[in-house]
Amino acid sequence: MIPLSSSLVLICVWTIWTSGYAADCGERQHKVNGRCCDLCPPGEKVKHFCSEHQQTVCVPCEKGSFSDQHHILGICEDCQSCQEYAQKCTLTTNAKCSRRPGFLCSNSVCSRCEENKCVQGEKVNRTAKTKSKGLIEYLYQCEPLCLDTEYFDAKVNICRPRTQCSLVGLPERFPGNKTHNSVCEQERPEIAGDSMYVLLGVGFILLSLTLLILLSYVCIKKFKKLKGGKSTDFVPVSTKTSDFPLSKEESSLSFIIQDESKCSDGFCVSHTEVTT
Ligand SMILES: *[C@@H]1O[C@H](CO)[C@@H](O)[C@H](O)[C@H]1NC(C)=O
Repeated sequence: MIPLSSSLVLICVWTIWTSGYAADCGERQHKVNGRCCDLCPPGEKVKHFCSEHQQTVCVPCEKGSFSDQHHILGICEDCQSCQEYAQKCTLTTNAKCSRRPGFLCSNSVCSRCEENKCVQGEKVNRTAKTKSKGLIEYLYQCEPLCLDTEYFDAKVNICRPRTQCSLVGLPERFPGNKTHNSVCEQERPEIAGDSMYVLLGVGFILLSLTLLILLSYVCIKKFKKLKGGKSTDFVPVSTKTSDFPLSKEESSLSFIIQDESKCSDGFCVSHTEVTT
């Protein structure tokens, strides 16, 4: 491979030559020893320089080499080798390198690549180092994208300041990191609290209903007994009940609840209790 700088020098010399001494040669000719020699076209190289007897003899570039302009050199340039190709080398064009997604070029022609090891919330910092032949080597380092007090919000692609729980007077549950905001302890756990209230409410209603049904049942049962008057266990609370007749509702307010008679070994004891 002919180094780029040497090629440039050759082109310069050739330009001076053609514009000066070889002014009388054709556009695609070059004066050698006072003779106008044909240049080889792109994709070819000189096999025999022109002589007294014959014009320049050109041959195609060898595989893996190319020439992209008219020249009078005996060699073609080596093709660029790549890890990933954007464009393959042809006889007249050099190869172009590319990189896979998530990879970074390790030099200016991207002939080598390296994996981007930076994670979310980090940015790539590139440093360049010029090597020989004008090739620039790249070195990469991962740096935090945001300040220490910030986190990177990937959804909107910006840095946001982290919530400072101490400023709002709440204990900190999670300090946060490069990609996540800090989480403060909630004073009242919203969802848990709400469902607890709902549960309590439902429980209270159910309990009230049960009590109501039980009470109604007991009332109706006792009132039926009272109305029938057949129960021998019935003991009037007040003799004045008959003096001031009560409505069904009123009379049901004052009656006797009698427990079931407790019997054991054929001996029964009955308890009576007056309720108003
Ligand atoms: C940041 O915190 C989140 C949530 O706890 C976690 O999933 C993530 O891995 C953390 N990231 C870093 C870089 O520590």
